[in-house]
Amino acid sequence: MIRLEGLTRSFGDLHVLRGFDLEVATGETVAVIGRSGEGKSVLLKHVAGLLQPDSGEVWIGDEQVTGADRERVRRLRLSMGYVFQSSALFDSMTVAENVRLALRRHGTPAAEIEERARESLETVGLGGWEGRYPAELSGGMRKRAGVARAVAPRPTYLLYDEPTSGLDPVTTSMIDELVLQLKEDLRATSIVVTHDMRSACRVADRIALLREGRVSWLGTPEEIEHTDDAAVKAFVEGRRDLWPDD
Ligand SMILES: Nc1ncnc2c1ncn2[C@@H]1O[C@H](COP(=O)(O)OP(=O)(O)OP(=O)(O)O)[C@@H](O)[C@H]1O
Ligand SMILES: [Mg+2]
Repeated sequence: MIRLEGLTRSFGDLHVLRGFDLEVATGETVAVIGRSGEGKSVLLKHVAGLLQPDSGEVWIGDEQVTGADRERVRRLRLSMGYVFQSSALFDSMTVAENVRLALRRHGTPAAEIEERARESLETVGLGGWEGRYPAELSGGMRKRAGVARAVAPRPTYLLYDEPTSGLDPVTTSMIDELVLQLKEDLRATSIVVTHDMRSACRVADRIALLREGRVSWLGTPEEIEHTDDAAVKAFVEGRRDLWPDD
């Protein structure tokens, strides 16, 4: 379970999170949608303990991330896979080395590392590209390598920051399948930040709209199609004219 309670976070005068509450049940996937700059990436960084809130609490299972010492945060992070929006691969290492490093950090037995790295790269369609450096890949391939690295250790918590942005529709559904597979195999508890409504509806049990620093709407993919909520409708239909003024 991931539980976020009353998270607030400002950067100077910019109040990004303003009382954000969300509970993601064990084995559940929640998609977080919201306009650019609303604070989706900031939110995920709080879940991973990479940023500390001004107030509020982050719980992973029965452990609190907020206020935990470095060692505990490090240990909690080992139970998480994080797909960074920017891929965040090490440029000086090949794609396979990036994945193997993540596996080593997670304590995967040495004998399994080679095979697991190969397998996870294959799952994202990067079989045969193991020896390439990030600079030699396309943007979408780097994104997929970032996904492979996050999922290779088979973590029970997964944080995906726009895992399918910049990917073609076929590759997108490949990543969607992977998200669903991990949910089934590991009973992974996941938050998926995405702008892709089709993806959100495919992978998520529930969808949360982040607006003005809070969850302004929360519901299932079925509910999102029939809601009267103005912001949700504006977002889903891409209608600037329907967007409620902030
Ligand atoms: N470390 C930081 N220092 C100062 N401001 C920050 C920092 N990180 C994020 N911000 C600000 O917080 C706001 C939210 O940023 P965030 O990256 O979370 O947006 P987002 O919802 O992920 O947008 P996008 O959809 O474009 O990725 C932005 O205005 C950004 O400038
Ligand atoms: Mg972002």
